[in-house]
Amino acid sequence: SSNESTVGIANVYRGTFVHSTDDTPLEILEDTLVGVDADGKIAFIGSWQEVDSLSRKWGFVASTITHLGQHEFFMPGLVDTHIHASQYGFAGTALDMPLLEWLNTYTFPEEERYKDPAFARNVYTHVVKRTLRNGTTTACYFATIHTDASLLLCEIANDFGQRALVGKVCMDRNNSYPNYKESLDESQKETIRFIDELLKKKYPLVKPVVTPRFALSCSTVLLDHLGKIAQDNHLHIQSHISETKEEVERVKDLFPTYDSYTDVYNKHKLLTDKTVMAHGCHLTDEELKLFRETGASIAHCPNSNISLCSGMLDVRRVLNQHVKLGLGTDVAGGYSPSMLDAVRKTMDTTKALKIQDPENYQTLTFEEVFQLATLGGSQALSLDRQIGNFEVGKDFDALRVNTAKEGGPIDLIILCKEPKVLLEKFLNLGDDRNIVEVYVAGKRVVPFVEKPVGGFSV
Ligand code: GUN
Ligand code: FE
Repeated sequence: SSNESTVGIANVYRGTFVHSTDDTPLEILEDTLVGVDADGKIAFIGSWQEVDSLSRKWGFVASTITHLGQHEFFMPGLVDTHIHASQYGFAGTALDMPLLEWLNTYTFPEEERYKDPAFARNVYTHVVKRTLRNGTTTACYFATIHTDASLLLCEIANDFGQRALVGKVCMDRNNSYPNYKESLDESQKETIRFIDELLKKKYPLVKPVVTPRFALSCSTVLLDHLGKIAQDNHLHIQSHISETKEEVERVKDLFPTYDSYTDVYNKHKLLTDKTVMAHGCHLTDEELKLFRETGASIAHCPNSNISLCSGMLDVRRVLNQHVKLGLGTDVAGGYSPSMLDAVRKTMDTTKALKIQDPENYQTLTFEEVFQLATLGGSQALSLDRQIGNFEVGKDFDALRVNTAKEGGPIDLIILCKEPKVLLEKFLNLGDDRNIVEVYVAGKRVVPFVEKPVGGFSV
């Protein structure tokens, strides 16, 4: 068949696999065999009962199969659809101000420091390692306005084997902190240089993202150029939208001739099926309709939305409008770099909305939130033909989870082995101690094995 691998089977895993499909938020595949080929793609998925015929058909030896333990399972890698690598240094602090004040006081001065490549290399190494070991197999990163430091983030993601979308931040308007901005000309030229330099490196898992910071920090001419660059090169686009009410008001003042915040991006060709917009807490129904029609998606960042008192996105409403949605940590507006925290804060937010409207609101289930953190994220980043779940032909991006890890956060008081219970326990109580292995495109990237070529300071 056309699905058959031509490069040979590299690894075969036996155990419980949990994942989502388009129709089912949680599908549990018990005692299953998954074969991964030398290109890191899933070559076959079968039942253990078929091991003899599968090994004959695919030419692997039974003794090479990796068998999972009884409290273990594989799940798809977590997809962080929105994280500022350049804000990792102050993650866990400075959450005492509303967004715009927070940007001016803490964020712009911090991002300014990335003009120093040594500083950038050090922090970026820590971000990539921290997120990978917490199960983020794909991250959609904001870097800073500095092209060379942004390229370092790409290099480090490549060295550690993380799948990454990376954006050099564009901003030619910043009256409140003028030290941190570019000229119009610089922003365009450096964006093109960033894209060209990155594509020249041919990192297999790292892609450039056109990244206007948000409408408030860009002139209409810059937005126009960025829309054109993305269109001409079929690139991903990321930005922020409708995070706080104050920001929405400021956009109205600054862009009086546009119908809405969403219309600002749309008129400049920045809403496409490869666009991911962070937050969207205060979008109207008409704006959500524009998202659906263009295929643009939302990165839901609940930790940030709560930490900066920005708002609570009603994910149920977004899903009912058939808008694609993934989860994001939004470090450092969100204080945690772990996607497990994003899962929990998504549950907390949906429950807070239920408290406000107990009669009508339908809370998200943990299975649905699991789907958003994996398959939903892959769809939000337009990578769902390649990743997001366990399907023949997709890349094997996976976490090997051991819920019974010695010294870990989950006590096995009741030795329940039901996979659904183990997954729910892991999502609510687990941490990186339970993530015993991480695979990206078939390659084991956690535990860390090789020292990356670039070297790093600890
Ligand atoms: N809006 C514009 N820039 C930022 C940022 O760095 N973080 C968040 N949370 N929102 C933004
Ligand atoms: Fe953000």
